[in-house]
Amino acid sequence: KFEGLALSPPMGWNSWNTFGCDIDEGLIKTIADKMVASGMRDAGYQYINIDDCWHGERDENGFIQADKTRFPSGIKALADYVHSKGLKLGIYSDAGNKTCGGRPGSNGHEYQDAIQYARWGIDYLKYDWCNTENLSAPGAYRTMRDALAAAGRPVVLSICEWGDNKPWLWGKEMGHLWRTTGDIINCWDCEVDHGSWSSWGILRILDMQDGLRQYAGPDHWNDPDMMEVGNGMSEHEDRAHFSIWAMLAAPLIAGNDLRSMSKSTQKILTHSEVIAVNQDALGVQAFKYKTQNDVEIWFKPLQDKQWAMMILNRGDKKAGVSFDWRNENVVDPDFPGNGQFYTAGFANSRYKIFDLWANKSAGTTKSSLRVSVEPHAVKLYRLEKITS
Ligand code: GLA
Repeated sequence: KFEGLALSPPMGWNSWNTFGCDIDEGLIKTIADKMVASGMRDAGYQYINIDDCWHGERDENGFIQADKTRFPSGIKALADYVHSKGLKLGIYSDAGNKTCGGRPGSNGHEYQDAIQYARWGIDYLKYDWCNTENLSAPGAYRTMRDALAAAGRPVVLSICEWGDNKPWLWGKEMGHLWRTTGDIINCWDCEVDHGSWSSWGILRILDMQDGLRQYAGPDHWNDPDMMEVGNGMSEHEDRAHFSIWAMLAAPLIAGNDLRSMSKSTQKILTHSEVIAVNQDALGVQAFKYKTQNDVEIWFKPLQDKQWAMMILNRGDKKAGVSFDWRNENVVDPDFPGNGQFYTAGFANSRYKIFDLWANKSAGTTKSSLRVSVEPHAVKLYRLEKITS
């Protein structure tokens, strides 16, 4: 794979969660404009990713073409436009004979497709796993990785295999991120049954990340799917969703309609301190430290001996939480830093506390933390060691 393209989790936008198959070049251009005008580009969002259903037929030599009605100017022109805005363009294909939406897949055409993407100026490929009956997943993703390498243009490879083939065990070699679950949906805690498959709300997706943090790191991320921020949940839920994705070092791929997003959605998506937790150079995912009834307390080691801390209230009632620093021994269960597991020695060292969503300092770890957390909401803190 092209090394070093995703040293921090990729940030961008994808068409699927809001638009499904109803996409065209006008929409993609407007989204690129909005990415700039909303401040999202400057906050770090880089990729504009076209999902399923952009495809037309293959030409007489087998090269894939865009749908001529929806993309009359062609993908090259669209890539030029997106690049002129200081952004990058992503596209979608599938390892099987057809995509999940029934468009032509790449099976047997991997090298040709990679050449075509390189000609167009594609920077990111989401590669799906529908209609792949007799294929081996590691094998199929290896083939596309090698095809992209042969075509020569650096492309982020997003492995969209939904967990059945445990992509966390082999994905690091093939791509830069891999899906860990089925599809997300815009609810706090639900499962929507579609017959042969289900989609999952925020908490369900969160719970499915258990045991996977050890596999992720710079250039190889767990992908709990694209975000639903701004797609209908409450403001508390959206903020919690974004915080969870930040703590999980998840790719931050927005999935809302940037043309009509509210001020509140825009503020959530561009919150620089929360994004910094996600993009932290250490690249270590958070771990669940403690559960008390509906409340979970998570910690994420950050560079320079800092920590992020999230108090998540999953429940329907307001929760009072107190955290007596001196009696808490926070040690990373999986990751050694400098030979020693990351350890926040709250008993011996003092930290300054920043409340990230409130944008203000919240004292130090000298005295216990006492907060009440709204239902379906989080408190998110950054802890900075006081060096004396
Ligand atoms: C699968 C993927 C989704 C989306 C659709 C497109 O369901 O998991 O993210 O790409 O296919 O058809």
